[in-house]
Amino acid sequence: MSNLAARVDELTAKLTLEEKVALLTGRDFWNTVPLESIGLRNLLLSDGPSGVRGEFWDERDNSLNLPSATALGSSWSLELAAEYGRTLAREAARKGVDVVLGPTINLHRSPLGGRHFECLSEDAMLTGALATSYTKAMQSLGKGACPKHYVANDFETNRYTVNVKVDERTLRELYLRPFEDAVVDGGAWTIMSSYNSINGTTATEHDLLQNPLRSDWNFDGVVISDWTAVRTLESAKAEQDLVMPGPIGPWGEALVAAVRSGEIDEATIDRKIARIILLAVRVGAIGADGQTPAQPPRHNNIAAEGRAFARRAASEGAVLLENDGVLPLNLSKVGKVALIGDNAKNARTQGGGSATTMPEFVVTPLDALKAELGDNLSYSVGAVVQKGIAELPKDQLVNPVTGGAGVQVEFLDIDGNVIYTEERRGTNLMWLGSEAPVEIAQGMRMRTNFTPTESGSRLLGFSNVLPVKLECDGVTLFDEKLPPTSEDPFTAMMDPPFASKAVDLVAGKPAVIDIHVDLRGREGLSASAVMFIFGFETDKSNEQRLIDEAVEAAKAAELAIVVVGTNAQVESEGFDRKDLKLPGRQDELVEAVVAANPNTIVIVNSGSPVLMPWNKKVKAILVTYFGGEQMGNALVDLLSGATEPGGRLPTTWAASQASLPVENCTPDSNNEVTYEEGIHIGYRAWLKSGAKPAYDFGYGLGYTTWAITAVTGDNKFSETEGLNLRVEVKNTGERAGKHIVQVYAERKATRIDRPVRWLVGFAEVHAAAGETKHAEISIRSREFANWDKGWNYEQGEFTLHVGSNVNDLPVSFNVELS
Ligand code: BGC
Repeated sequence: MSNLAARVDELTAKLTLEEKVALLTGRDFWNTVPLESIGLRNLLLSDGPSGVRGEFWDERDNSLNLPSATALGSSWSLELAAEYGRTLAREAARKGVDVVLGPTINLHRSPLGGRHFECLSEDAMLTGALATSYTKAMQSLGKGACPKHYVANDFETNRYTVNVKVDERTLRELYLRPFEDAVVDGGAWTIMSSYNSINGTTATEHDLLQNPLRSDWNFDGVVISDWTAVRTLESAKAEQDLVMPGPIGPWGEALVAAVRSGEIDEATIDRKIARIILLAVRVGAIGADGQTPAQPPRHNNIAAEGRAFARRAASEGAVLLENDGVLPLNLSKVGKVALIGDNAKNARTQGGGSATTMPEFVVTPLDALKAELGDNLSYSVGAVVQKGIAELPKDQLVNPVTGGAGVQVEFLDIDGNVIYTEERRGTNLMWLGSEAPVEIAQGMRMRTNFTPTESGSRLLGFSNVLPVKLECDGVTLFDEKLPPTSEDPFTAMMDPPFASKAVDLVAGKPAVIDIHVDLRGREGLSASAVMFIFGFETDKSNEQRLIDEAVEAAKAAELAIVVVGTNAQVESEGFDRKDLKLPGRQDELVEAVVAANPNTIVIVNSGSPVLMPWNKKVKAILVTYFGGEQMGNALVDLLSGATEPGGRLPTTWAASQASLPVENCTPDSNNEVTYEEGIHIGYRAWLKSGAKPAYDFGYGLGYTTWAITAVTGDNKFSETEGLNLRVEVKNTGERAGKHIVQVYAERKATRIDRPVRWLVGFAEVHAAAGETKHAEISIRSREFANWDKGWNYEQGEFTLHVGSNVNDLPVSFNVELS
């Protein structure tokens, strides 16, 4: 037994049964229980996966906001994934966080999946490789990663209860594979078990937590439940370790009693405890000398290197889908530019739901292009995209109590007495695991004086599910409770209903806003958290005028840049997308703008694939995803050619919804979704169906061109020895650039149902103009194996196709498995 194992055993032995059981359920929303008797402090867990929110969901407690995981997936860069992990580890250190709840490594099975933006790709091997790099790098700085959600949690509809029916081969080869890589190669210290059931058993009680996780992959880390995913005492018998959140949960006293009565073996509890102690040792939360370590100090200064990384990652993950030569632009000579689009101003820099962080600021495309082009830039909205209530501009708010900036918030007892006060900065407010007495408060009052900069009618409103009284200048606008949007309490909270009414505002004259929220009678999750947004709803009564204005602006300019995108009601946690269309009248807008000015480029600000019926009419299309807080600066870098779009699609983009080979995320009448397509998802499904997508898996343009000219290397391999290839790649263009060389396998004569071809290796190549490089690619034998009650290696010949995307593979090479 190693010294470490002996120490963990020794500490476990010191604990009473009550202490042990206490440690197995969270102390609160984000922390575990401290145990002074063994020198163990609380562990702080925090979302994840594209920033580290920290303990408080509060606009005063800022975090770096990196580009969404789809952008990271598009980079195909192990180096970038490692720096992403290290950057998050530094953020975690700054915020006193021990474990970051990410990466999210479910697969892009259907583009409708609501958390598509949060996941890396449709390919298990690419996802696994990036997740490994992210995990290893994060943990090298002493912070735990938490790959999630184990497993088959690839859509959101009925996510708490749905049963996913999936065969064993598909599980092993596809959905478990990224977890296998993150555990076996990445050495993950924790993983998160999901909400859903798999083949009839809920994830937190599933044998998959033993087989293959513990047995085959030797996972010695902690299985953390997704928030509220543990529902029964029974689950304590499974290899589920930590119940989150706490303090209330199904284990507690019931588990103590079950152990005492002999119903559950104490050794089962000891295994869980040993894993949590090991995690505590790994993150430094347990004193070597028996003394409880102090909480790591926290501070609010986001490192400049983190911001620089956010900017670089946004370029590396952006995918150039079309370019007739217009890009890169010489911004000093481009003349008048018409910037158009709601998302140019209200940019979505991150997806919604638990992944949310509170950036200190975001650089929108409008901010960055204005700084670059000054008076040569015009801006028009074009089409309304943002839905619901947008918060009031922070710099126009005065706290009527303090006279300083912001909003006065008071929590009240049943008699209306103030029991807690906060001075908040903005009007998009969330209390989740916060210091405010959200659970016991019976009422809440929010006040601010808002000074408009323009006169006119605006739609003032709020978004919340509780009874609300909202007054503006002493007039009651609302005194009502809006019906919830969903029965799922999390969705109801994250995507609350909203309402607004017209108010007449006068520039420079403060509008006095006073809001009361009735907090009585809440229970369960809704008692521990409150979300409240107040502000303006965009007026949609004159949509044609918006398009007309954009057309006029485009006509008056040399170049039109249209930023299209999705909104938080389309892409977010807790629900799936209904279709792939851009919301609102954006398609019409692009058509009208391009008709007015053929020199039009389109920027796509979505986290996942959208339909672009106008794609062959515009001069360029650049997908920036949810580009993180530096999105605007990165866009200027990309447009000007200071950087090159480094992304290649990690997911196939369809030309029409009807052509999607795998789409269904809607549970049937038995609350089941069957993964009937088996191992054929993503490009594998497209190849099998023969339908043509708009853009292939692996596709993306840079600012230079490449030729893949030769492949040499091993032509024999075995079950234990993989292959090493050397691919000759030439930069045939006029500037330095990056390319992703991709290797796909094909098996002609086979006994097995295999994909037409599948990704087995890739490499990132950088070369100067005219330069030839050799990419070294190692391919594991496992890439050729199929699961059939065990890994099975079908002997014989495979053909490797090497190139730049799944349908552009100029060079082939035969290899023999024997
Ligand atoms: C999400 C997890 C997240 C957790 C804590 C859940 O609803 O599914 O991904 O880590 O909440 O915020």
